[in-house]
Order: sequence, then C-alpha cells, then structure tokens
Amino acid sequence: MRILVTGGAGFIGSALVRRLINHTDHEVLVFDKLTYAGVLSSLEPVASSNRYSFVQADICDADAVSRVLRDFQPDVIAHLAAESHVDRSIDGPGAFIQTNMVGTFVMLNQALGYWRGLAGDKKASFRFHHISTDEVFGSLGEDGFFTETTPYDPRSPYSASKAGSDHLVRAWGHTYGLPVLVTNCSNNYGPYHFPEKLIPLIIIRALNGEPLPVYGDGSNVRDWLFVDDHACALQAVFEKGKPGETYNVGGNAEKKNIEVVAAICAILDRLRPKTNGKYADQITYVTDRPGHDHRYAIDASKIRSDLDWTPSVTFEQGIEQTVTWFLENQAWWQDILDARYSTQRLGVANG
Ligand code: NAD
Ligand code: DAU
Repeated sequence: MRILVTGGAGFIGSALVRRLINHTDHEVLVFDKLTYAGVLSSLEPVASSNRYSFVQADICDADAVSRVLRDFQPDVIAHLAAESHVDRSIDGPGAFIQTNMVGTFVMLNQALGYWRGLAGDKKASFRFHHISTDEVFGSLGEDGFFTETTPYDPRSPYSASKAGSDHLVRAWGHTYGLPVLVTNCSNNYGPYHFPEKLIPLIIIRALNGEPLPVYGDGSNVRDWLFVDDHACALQAVFEKGKPGETYNVGGNAEKKNIEVVAAICAILDRLRPKTNGKYADQITYVTDRPGHDHRYAIDASKIRSDLDWTPSVTFEQGIEQTVTWFLENQAWWQDILDARYSTQRLGVANG
C-alpha cells in the first residue's frame, strides 16, 4: 500500500514510519511542517529506503495537500499531524485550533475530493485514519474505563481541539461517505519522545542533576503504552479496521505520576549510579497544571477482540528500554535541548 503519514517527523508518526519501512513492503510519504516538534533525525534510520519520501508542508495549506494527494496517490492517509502538548495549549491555544481543527478540516476536504476521483478497488480500499487521544473523554474518578461509547468531555484547549477534529472526521464519514477510521489512544512513551513530555523530561533532568518537577501531589493517573505497540495498533486498524469505526488503544498500565518518576529514578540508580545520593532526591513537587485531569484509563477490549491487537511489552519492560535508549542516544536529545527546548516549565497560565 501507499501510505501518507501526516506528522511523520513527530514522536508517534516517526515510530509508525520506522515500523512500516522496516517491517512491511508499504511505501511511505511523510507530510510534515517541521514545527518545533518535528525532528528529522528521528527518521534517519529509514531515510535511505527507496520506499520512503518526505515533503515539508502545512496541513492547513490546501494546495500543498491537494498536490501531494495527486502525485502520491495514497491508499491510506494516517493523519497524525497535530499540536500535541497540553501545557503548550494552555499557554497558546491558537495553534491548536489552527492545526488540529482547521488542518484536519483541510485534510478531510482534500481527501474527499481525491477519493471521489478514484475508481474500483482503489476507491473501495481507501482509508482516512485519524489518530486521536483518550483525553477527549475527560477525566475519570478512581474507578471505570473509557470505552468507544463514552461521551466526549474535553477539558483542556488541546483535548477540546482534538475532540473537535474527531467530530469533523466522523461527520465527513457520515455525511459524505468518506471511509474514515478513528483511534483514541492513551499516553505513549519510548524512544525519540520529545523532551517536553513527562517521561523524557524526567530522564533528561535527572541525568543533568536538575529538580524533577512533579505537578500537584503526583497522584494523577495515566495509562502508558509503549510507542512501538501503538504503531502496531495503527497498522492493524488501517489494514483491517472497519470504516466508520472507532477503536480505543491502551497499554493496560495505569500508574500515578509519582510512580512513573520513581520507576525512572530506580532504573537510573542501577544503570548510571550517582556518586552522592539517589536520583529520587531530586524530586520536587511544583504548582499543579491548571485544569489537570485526574485519571485516564482505557478499555481496549474492542481492538483486542476485533483486530487481535494487544500490547507486546509491560510498562516495566518498556520503561527500562526507554531509559536505556535515552542513555545511549544523548546526541538526539542534546540537539533539541541546545536548539529548541531546554525542559523549562510550560503551561502555568501566566498569560
Ligand atoms: P508530536 O508533537 O511529537 O508530533 C507532531 C508532528 O506533527 C510534528 O512532526 C510536527 O512537525 C507535525 N505538525 C504539527 N503541526 C503541523 C502542521 N500544521 N502541518 C504539518 N505537520 C504538522 O506528536 P505525537 O506525540 O507524535 O502525537 C501524534 C498524534 O497522536 C497527535 O495527533 C496526537 O494528538 C496523537 N496522540 C498522541 C499521544 C501521545 O501520548 N503522544 C497519545 C494519543 C494520541
Ligand atoms: O492521554 C494521551 C495524551 O497523553 C496525548 O493525547 C498527549 O498528546 C500527550 O502529550 C499526553 O498528555 P499528558 O498531558 O498526559 O502528557 P504529559 O507528558 O504532558 O504529562 C503526563 C502527566 O505528568 C500529566 O499528569 C502531567 C504530569 N507532569 C507532566 C510534566 C511535563 C508532571 O507532573 N511534570 C511534568 O514536568
């Protein structure tokens, strides 16, 4: 198949592209604006493949999208391009509305025109796959799980913009018959994770001897999924999923934030011991994130039963691999720290 991956230079997009090039015969075109979060070196492992190509462009640019669809003739659009960081959405929501909602509208409209011009098997097998988040469902108390039928209740500018884009995608499926798929996934982690997110930020700050900021009292719960398992789920959905359906994707690995931070510190104590004290000594409780959702948890039984997908690694295995990767790939993250973002606090709603 010919697969157009928007946001393919990002954390999850690049994992998907590496998987598709290394483990399938599919051809892949990455369409990415290269915002602060787009990191071309994450695609270096596959850059020399003759099944890989790259276009730098904005999903809000209808002409650029139209040109690429006409030239590449995709069978699948895997739409991952988005502004993805909740804290940045608190500081500057405008870019989230623009890329996540307007950009998704542009992608849908151009995909519809392209799909209508197809014929036969090529038309029947085309899929527009929107990659979304569990945050659209809001926040849980101590019990319960998000299912595919949980009502939407987004609470941050990021999750509201993703909820809006999910609704647009379903509307284009329902109204115009575009063969759409939606996945809503929990927190990913793994290699090539941009250092603004909790897990890479903690690993890097720990190694640099800096305070490890835990928002609030550290009791907020997230469900963690190793990014390569997410890439595997995405492939299963666009290859075998039923158009019009939504699939929840999760790691079955709920952790309090403080447990995640403690796990990272314990691995570093073993793999890179400090001369004085323990990494956990660096933990610092800081002002909470405004509107901080308490708990997310995913019921992933539908994708397990319908598409035979389950995570291949536990959180304990995945976090060990992740810490090891960050220890062995300092050049990748040091470039980001030097040129783009140096792990300072974001999202305190100061203006
Ligand atoms: P990321 O921030 O690491 O990467 C986003 C990519 O999109 C970057 O390469 C960036 O350059 C590109 N991009 C941004 N705006 C663009 C635009 N206007 N035009 C073209 N490209 C643009 O994000 P991620 O963590 O890899 O997330 C990918 C997708 O998965 C997002 O849609 C996100 O909402 C969703 N998601 C993420 C998680 C997670 O834990 N990270 C979980 C569930 C769903
Ligand atoms: O649930 C899926 C979502 O997971 C995705 O849709 C988002 O794109 C992705 O960024 C992620 O959102 P979170 O807000 O959950 O991820 P983040 O890594 O920013 O924060 C994880 C938890 O850790 C959250 O409860 C806030 C907390 N935190 C975060 C940072 C950056 C801290 O305690 N300290 C920190 O320094």
